[in-house]
Amino acid sequence: MKTLLILFILMNLDKGYCTETRDQVLSISPTTQEQVDILKNVSTQYETALWQPVSPHYIKEETQVHLFVPANSSETVTDLLQKHAITHEVLLANANELIEMQTKNDSTDPRSSSTFYERYHSLEDIYYWINRTAQDNPDKVKAILIGSSYEKRPLYALKLTLNNRPNKKAIWIDCGIHAREWISPAFCLWFVHYSLSFYKQNQDIANILDNMDVYVLPVMNPDGYKYTWTTNRMWRKNRSISRSSACTGVDLNRNFDANWCTEGASHEPCTEIYCGAFPESEPESEAVANFLRLHKDTVQLYLSIHSYSQMLLFPYSCTLDEAENHNDLLEMVQEAAQKIRRYYSNTYKYGPGAKTIYLAPGGSDDWAYNLGIKYSFTFELQDRGHYGFLLPPSHIAKACNEALLAVKTIANKVIEKT
Ligand code: ARG
Ligand code: ZN
Repeated sequence: MKTLLILFILMNLDKGYCTETRDQVLSISPTTQEQVDILKNVSTQYETALWQPVSPHYIKEETQVHLFVPANSSETVTDLLQKHAITHEVLLANANELIEMQTKNDSTDPRSSSTFYERYHSLEDIYYWINRTAQDNPDKVKAILIGSSYEKRPLYALKLTLNNRPNKKAIWIDCGIHAREWISPAFCLWFVHYSLSFYKQNQDIANILDNMDVYVLPVMNPDGYKYTWTTNRMWRKNRSISRSSACTGVDLNRNFDANWCTEGASHEPCTEIYCGAFPESEPESEAVANFLRLHKDTVQLYLSIHSYSQMLLFPYSCTLDEAENHNDLLEMVQEAAQKIRRYYSNTYKYGPGAKTIYLAPGGSDDWAYNLGIKYSFTFELQDRGHYGFLLPPSHIAKACNEALLAVKTIANKVIEKT
């Protein structure tokens, strides 16, 4: 009885002390320019990770900031906010628990479990899955080595060919450009699995795969992805080492040749939106660009999967100019968003990137569009900021099904139009 009592007290003590010393995500609302400046300072000076906006540069009055604050800077940061009367609330009090939840029980034979696609997977397991998927479906799936990463990891794309019609066109889907957006690779796996399992049952996917092959690159940034599993869950960029700076990593979605490194990207290697030394300086973006250049006459639809914020975006992001087929693209994402609302009661914003979020040059979607792939989209999957990059595994199914519905809607429209 005594021991039980002591245990009880200890447990509660533990709770009381730990709330202050856990990793947290704060939602912060600066209202004055002074508060904006302090926040910019906090997010660069202290060991924090800015979730939203993507770079301190975009912090402005009356706009919510989502900031990941690790346990060791938690007190200092909260004190600073309090001292300057900056309104904030705790968005996630238990970020480390969420992180733990997402990385555990990655089984040794990953494909054996029925919930395989409702979990996040380590890079090793994804490589294993790529291999097994190709091996087990030799007539339908081919693994293509399109290049390698900065740290020399292979970049495999899966080619899905479910129908042997001659002269088929193709869809390209890449996932995991940004390392911390784990729902993105999860979607690529989900998509491949769904295509292989429901080709015979579902009209929409059948129509797509009868008319198009699909190239799926599950992890475009394997070095970064690996790093989010081993070292820093909030890493975004790749892991290339700079000649000129101690900071690591290039934002691969600023490294393409589309108004490269103009407003919305940075030449400073220490920022999250570092554009690299020159367009396609990074082996990951170069590999994708090379592959698409080679296949630009067959690839008609380009899709790049990101998170979070629930948006269906199309060119341009690198300029405020309107794309030549703006109305077509708008109609497609509008219909996709409507369907998501109808079937999943969830809201997705849509529109051209620059006007819907911010100017962001050097993106893969704009580059692919300028290459001649006139149907080019970036999806930002769930959620809208509650869990952010730490979307729990229990949400994977719905997040992926929504995105899948958008892919089906858009792909079938492309087939209709061409
Ligand atoms: N959140 C994405 C990013 O910052 C948006 C991508 C939209 N497209 C683009 N080309 N920037 O990379
Ligand atoms: Zn992203």
